[in-house]
Amino acid sequence: MRVVSGIQPTGDLHLGNYLGAIRNWVRMQDALEPGSETLFFLADLHALSQPHDPAALRAATLEMAAALVACGIDPDRSVLFNQAQVPLHAELQWLLNGTARMGWLNRMTQWKDKAGKNREGQSVALFTYPVLQAADVLLYQATHVPVGEDQKQHLELARDIAQKFNNDFAPKNEDGSDAPVFTLPEPIIPGEAARIMSLRDGTAKMSKSDPSEMSRINLVDDADTVMQKIKKAKTDPEPLPSEVAGLAGRPEAANLVGIYAALTGAEPAAVLADFGGKGFGAFKPALGELLIETLGPIRDRFVTLKQDGEALDAILARGASKARERGTPTLSAAYQALGLVRH
Ligand code: TYM
Repeated sequence: MRVVSGIQPTGDLHLGNYLGAIRNWVRMQDALEPGSETLFFLADLHALSQPHDPAALRAATLEMAAALVACGIDPDRSVLFNQAQVPLHAELQWLLNGTARMGWLNRMTQWKDKAGKNREGQSVALFTYPVLQAADVLLYQATHVPVGEDQKQHLELARDIAQKFNNDFAPKNEDGSDAPVFTLPEPIIPGEAARIMSLRDGTAKMSKSDPSEMSRINLVDDADTVMQKIKKAKTDPEPLPSEVAGLAGRPEAANLVGIYAALTGAEPAAVLADFGGKGFGAFKPALGELLIETLGPIRDRFVTLKQDGEALDAILARGASKARERGTPTLSAAYQALGLVRH
């Protein structure tokens, strides 16, 4: 098993990132069998697809590294690095640009959502973003990619690119069979927490790009802030239903119940068995307490870790060197398959 995944170092790590992806990263790292490996990275090259402030990007990269370690990513057991220190990602992206089709990228919902009506004004990087994402995982022969639901389409594209590249360019073994250059990666998407929604609008995903701080719980929020955000979360006036079917048409209620379920590891039906018939006046404080209990220790570790920039730099440098080693054979094979020589 080769587990690979990434996160953009823009803004704080929020509850959607944690429950949708990072918690799974940690679980996969902790359950790893000998011979398998986990690689996690900060997608700082992807951050260039949007207007950004260079000093802020540098600070956010270190902070996100601290946040991942605080969540349980252990740099001694996982390869933890940032893309910019591993130029192989950018190199492989260029090779894959020859395989990816304009039509495939035009269909990406993230591109359509982020570009909106102003496609002409977007950076080329925003459009080709999913090709870099494909390079991120194909470079390491990733077998499993733990992500939230919103990244599923990008992973399908990575599979399409790998498949087409293998079809078009894979060299032959001696017996005439194909020797594929790339492995087709499998997305690993959590059930309950695949899509954590905004606290202000149960139909929009919780996101770092939402201008309202009240829409998301950040891992750096203190206990009072967490409780306040949950108490002010948008809901409806009805009490909670006793059955899951009663959540239909109530996206905000469904989201809060889903968060509770994801935090406790219970099914939403079990949460409703406890809280059905009760109002949000009873449910919200219970949810707030649960969040504080889960996130408090992570926050405390984060606050300590982020003060030691030198230690974080050393972690990333060590991870980058391992990542370069892991990625080199595949990159060389891709060059060779294309009729290029890489020294
Ligand atoms: P990013 O930085 O937006 O998010 C990091 C991870 O968090 C998940 N996530 C969510 N899950 C559930 N509910 C939400 N509201 C929510 N918001 C975010 C995302 O699905 C993701 O798993 N393009 C990627 C970063 C990336 C990457 C990769 C991921 C770059 N290269 C290669 C996997 C493999 C992104 O912007 O994620």
